[in-house]
Amino acid sequence: MKKTILSALLVSVTLVAGDAASVYKSGLMLPANGEVIYKKQCATCHGDNGEKSAFKGSGAITGMDTATLAKELKDYRYGSVNKYGYGAQMKSVLVDLSWDEIDAVSAYVNSLK
Ligand code: HEC
Repeated sequence: MKKTILSALLVSVTLVAGDAASVYKSGLMLPANGEVIYKKQCATCHGDNGEKSAFKGSGAITGMDTATLAKELKDYRYGSVNKYGYGAQMKSVLVDLSWDEIDAVSAYVNSLK
């Protein structure tokens, strides 16, 4: 029993002390890291610098205004925006992100060039 508690404790200490980039997972009590979230959750479709068109018709998102982007992402999260008919893809990505994480990733996209 003591051993189990001790190893559980060790695991949590390792998680908290580890590099935020390597242990990032939505829901852990770590400060939201926009860059890590972007690379993990957005880059496959939007490109490393937001330059890629996610599909024919959508544009680059590089450098988008932080507040505008955060609002749009929250709307996608709730399914209340569907610009080109593929909003469900965005919703499925955003549904696991918190408000803090959406704000952080928006600021990161804004910083992209
Ligand atoms: C599975 C692929 C995929 C992933 C991953 C993804 N997106 Fe998208 N994104 C899309 C598609 C498809 C659209 C077009 C949705 C529509 O029809 O409105 C879109 C639209 C957008 C738009 C609106 C673009 C425009 O031209 O108006 C923004 C901004 C955006 N995504 C940002 C993000 C961010 C930030 C992330 C990461 C949190 C992300 N996306 C993750 C596929 C993806």
